[in-house]
Amino acid sequence: MIADVKKAELHCHIEGAASPELVKAQAVKYGADVSSFIAGDGYVWSDFTEFLHAYDGAAALFRSEEDYAALAQSYLEGIAAENAIYAEIFVSPDHALAAGLSPETYFNGLASGIGAARASSGIECRMIVVGIRHLGAEKVEAAARIAADRPHPLITGFGMAGEERFGRVSDFARAFDIARDAGLGITIHAGELDGADSVRNALDHVRPSRIGHGVRAIEDPDLVQRLAEEGVVLEVCPGSNLALQVFPDMATHPFDRLHRAGVKVTLSSDDPPHFHSSIAHEYKLAADAWGYDAAKLTGFTRTAIEAAFVDEPTRAILLGQLA
Ligand code: ADE
Ligand code: ZN
Repeated sequence: MIADVKKAELHCHIEGAASPELVKAQAVKYGADVSSFIAGDGYVWSDFTEFLHAYDGAAALFRSEEDYAALAQSYLEGIAAENAIYAEIFVSPDHALAAGLSPETYFNGLASGIGAARASSGIECRMIVVGIRHLGAEKVEAAARIAADRPHPLITGFGMAGEERFGRVSDFARAFDIARDAGLGITIHAGELDGADSVRNALDHVRPSRIGHGVRAIEDPDLVQRLAEEGVVLEVCPGSNLALQVFPDMATHPFDRLHRAGVKVTLSSDDPPHFHSSIAHEYKLAADAWGYDAAKLTGFTRTAIEAAFVDEPTRAILLGQLA
């Protein structure tokens, strides 16, 4: 049943989608040591800080346009094989710069991987530039300016990832103003590692149409009602939440409670190999936990396409594929 459901993924960090196998191959190519974050076939980390170390270590091994083209193509062809018809990837100019790549070369490499995957599988993809919160407001504003210059037509959104507990959301409001004024779609990580207040602050200061995670909004019933009333879409990543111990198990995960309270929810995998997940696995986690049938799961895909940062003709084609 899961295999037959058409899927859409709104929340995946491209560097976090690199498999340990691919990262080990990159390490051989560049003569690097990955033993501080990969052991055997898997990433090794035990908390969010160590996860970020593994994430940054993997990202540092993608150093050319071709490296990023191959990464985007392999990720997208992998999820297309799971019946995904649409994906948005978070792309981070700061990670490119740290690896010695210009943002322009980075975007071009990713775009050629996106084009190759589209040609081989039909999957559509757009890029969301993210600033990294724990690098500070100046860096996040710089990322917003890069995105606001509209360096590539496949870049359609702006967001913020990284350590949610760093600084105040209001410190980053200017970056989001820059991106919004440039016509980009807006999303922000909140309510993952930090509590309901982080979601409320994000709504007040950033006015996003979507929130990355947002699941800890469940701690505040008034906020849940506000999310429902304002139609803000949550990019929920249950497998990530379990791996990072935001919730201990699916029985306590709030996805279904948020859905039943009228909040628009979608399913994504965040950093799939780090969390032993994939987009199909996320759909399966939800189906197993709450007995969703194919029509219900397709409804979450429809919510994702309706909230996608994509042009209207493409949205219409994608929605037509769900009919
Ligand atoms: N960057 C990559 N994955 C992330 C996550 N789950 N939360 C915040 N920043 C991230
Ligand atoms: Zn994320």
